[in-house]
Amino acid sequence: MTVAPERIEAAVAALRPAARAASANAHAPYSGFHVGAALRTVEGTVFAGCNVESASYGLTQCAERNALGAAISAGVKPGETSMMVIYLPGSKPLPPCGACRQWMVELMQPAALVVSCCDGEATQAWQLADLLPGPFLGP
Ligand code: THU
Repeated sequence: MTVAPERIEAAVAALRPAARAASANAHAPYSGFHVGAALRTVEGTVFAGCNVESASYGLTQCAERNALGAAISAGVKPGETSMMVIYLPGSKPLPPCGACRQWMVELMQPAALVVSCCDGEATQAWQLADLLPGPFLGP
């Protein structure tokens, strides 16, 4: 589903600063890629996260999942997050990985807006339901 440009602009205006600030805290000694993500709850509270890498590579946690973990840890319930903006350094906005899409589907509203932004003006935006069609939601 196409996302209206004014919704994308509003999300970027609201959450890009927090996402970018969080990226400065990234622990990314292996990739050197410092990512930040910020989400907004239905009540208007903002939570942010950065990527945290591990020497055993596969245990790396993305910025998106850390932002969601921060919200859940603070008492936000599944379905109470309406929007997330991801900041990736460079000139290309990139889509979230599969693991993060799974977390998003389980923890955010199905109609939530997900926006990827970068150092330039370019953005990519999705309605969450379009990012992971036919998700596994438990046995
Ligand atoms: N990364 C994120 O944090 N979010 C994304 O959307 C893409 C990838 C991190 C994982 C790893 O620490 C680094 O970026 C390179 O893949």
